Amino acid sequence: MATILAIESSCDDTSAAVISDGQILSNIIATQTIHEIYGGVVPEMASRAHIRHIVPIVSMALQHAGKTMDDLQAVAFTQSPGLIGSLLVGSGFAQALAQAKGLPLIAVHHMQAHVLAHFIEDPKPQFPFLCLTVSGGHTQLVLCKDHLEMQVIGETIDDAAGEAFDKAAKMFGLPYPGGPVIDKLAAEGNPDRFSFPVTSMPEYQYSFSGLKTNILYFIRKQQQEQPDFVQQNMADLCASVQQTIIKTLMLKLKKAAKDLGVTQIGIAGGVSANKGLRAALETTGKELGWTTYVPAFQYCTDNAAMVAITAHYKFEKGLFVPLGTVPTARAAF
Ligand code: KG4
Ligand code: ZN
Repeated sequence: MATILAIESSCDDTSAAVISDGQILSNIIATQTIHEIYGGVVPEMASRAHIRHIVPIVSMALQHAGKTMDDLQAVAFTQSPGLIGSLLVGSGFAQALAQAKGLPLIAVHHMQAHVLAHFIEDPKPQFPFLCLTVSGGHTQLVLCKDHLEMQVIGETIDDAAGEAFDKAAKMFGLPYPGGPVIDKLAAEGNPDRFSFPVTSMPEYQYSFSGLKTNILYFIRKQQQEQPDFVQQNMADLCASVQQTIIKTLMLKLKKAAKDLGVTQIGIAGGVSANKGLRAALETTGKELGWTTYVPAFQYCTDNAAMVAITAHYKFEKGLFVPLGTVPTARAAF
């Protein structure tokens, strides 16, 4: 069986993981905090930080796994989607290593990897498996027939769920990334205090741009009478916005599960770290007889372990790519 080094560098986290016979031996992540002060990821800065981090992160991943480069049977990297400058760093590094060591190269789709994070630890879902992948750049309903046989049955037509969290937080004057901050503050607030519309799109589609505009107009109006409205009502605002995003997400997840007759249901991606969403999945699951799955916290946000587990399944099938494979900012899987 194989020992594989996997590299993830699609956005602002540099991560490397080692997997051996399907078991994760290490998963090292360097998160870039520089973007906080700009209220969002600055692509140029992200690329530069990846260059600074990639060598020490890979060394640490190998060291923690008790392996050296000579123990590897393949090298994997995130090919798409993501920021192109960021992807180029991981892909360039992986290809140089593959060439130097004469190893096969495995290209991984970041969103497929988020879904396969469910297969890192037990209990693992059975097929067919329906996964709601919610991150900073994507919101997708994915039907999985097998580890590598996946179909995106619905997605957002505009903003992603994570983006909705981040933009709401920005309007409330909270730091970036706003999702975890809203999650924390929401725990102290009343989710029924303010009501925002739950957008229901056709079929299994999502839309979050209307919510953003709605929040903006609502707080502007309130601030005309009470300039410190946001500060005075922060916890209730966070709880109400979080509840609206969760209701929107659950609406189509329930519809898809019912229409397709699937009862193995999971959430993945950065927003799946959200306590409210986790609780909603559990409650709905109990109500509807689902078996629900949420990856361990460290495998929800961007990490190389999820790239490694995807590479493990690709290695088994001999799905390699040639040296010179180019990363792309957008790609379907
Ligand atoms: O999957 P991820 O780490 O990176 C992308 O591929 O985009 O997701 C990042 C997103 C950000 O929008 C962040 O605010 C959101 O996930 N996020 C959360 C939580 N933790 C991270 N959103 C809500 N609640 C959280 N606890
Ligand atoms: Zn991600």
